[in-house]
Amino acid sequence: MAALLIVHWLTKRLTLLAREMEAFRASGFSEAPALLHGSKPPGDEIDLLRLTFHEMSGRIVDQIANLRDVDRLRRDLVANVSHDLRTPMASVHGYLETLLLKEPTLTEADKRRYLQVALKHSRGLTTMVAELFELAKLDAREVELHVEPFSLCELGQDVLQRFELLATSRGVDLEGVLSPSLPMVAADIRLIERVLVNLIENGVRHTPEGGRVSLVCHPDGEGVLVQVSDTGPGIAAVELPHIFERFYRAAGTGADSAEGAGLGLAIAKRILDLHDSRLSVRSEPNTGASFIFTLRAAEP
Ligand SMILES: Nc1ncnc2c1ncn2[C@@H]1O[C@H](COP(=O)(O)OP(=O)(O)OP(=O)(O)O)[C@@H](O)[C@H]1O
Ligand SMILES: [Mg+2]
Repeated sequence: MAALLIVHWLTKRLTLLAREMEAFRASGFSEAPALLHGSKPPGDEIDLLRLTFHEMSGRIVDQIANLRDVDRLRRDLVANVSHDLRTPMASVHGYLETLLLKEPTLTEADKRRYLQVALKHSRGLTTMVAELFELAKLDAREVELHVEPFSLCELGQDVLQRFELLATSRGVDLEGVLSPSLPMVAADIRLIERVLVNLIENGVRHTPEGGRVSLVCHPDGEGVLVQVSDTGPGIAAVELPHIFERFYRAAGTGADSAEGAGLGLAIAKRILDLHDSRLSVRSEPNTGASFIFTLRAAEP
């Protein structure tokens, strides 16, 4: 009798466990059995087995959900990328085809203009592919941070100088407020240069003739605060939460122009995330936009 009772008691729990495993399998590994409640220490090996199975199934369900999320993100990205590549590509194709078909009837000036438009779109494509590649590397955390002390004043002046020609041709005033007494910052100089380039480029591109783009750095607590402001049209409040998303371009940015893919701010934000810094924006329509972040000062 005693032996029978023991066997029954043992097999009852094993049958329960087997049933739970079967239910988990039948759900396509997507529904874990309700976790055992209480932190009661397992009684014997069977209890321990059941507890382990429950933990394991919970983990499997989480990981499958995680994989699905990543997969969805990747699919969205591919869809976005192909959409954004298609427009300029179709344009290059169209202009080149027209050029070929109508060559005898086109004037020299028209031919030149067509070639210039095709070239502009193909340049845009090259930049976009390069930016996508950079963003993918940043996302995959394949980019190693080479943190070193450097002077933001020098870097800022360097970047401003690079935009001088573009700014002058657009009638925009470029201004740097960079005191040489700024503390050195500890960051990846190449990546921070990228952030400044993206922000200043946006400023110059959006500011109408007669406006001003300024880069201001000043000490702020333990670090240095960097601010890139412009006197352009600014960004509407409804757009503000989205401008850091990849491929987002605010309305009125001329969605059909070859300029810009909507990746610049996403890249800048990712880079600052890697530096444990946050890129914030302040803007009101018609008063301009202002992008701000801080960098940690280097140890003296
Ligand atoms: N200084 C600014 N003034 C007004 N709008 C801006 C400014 N900076 C960014 N924006 C808006 O935010 C959007 C996203 O900017 P982002 O830099 O990510 O993309 P982009 O400049 O369009 O393209 P890319 O930088 O990839 O060449 C822009 O399309 C624009 O609508
Ligand atoms: Mg940009």
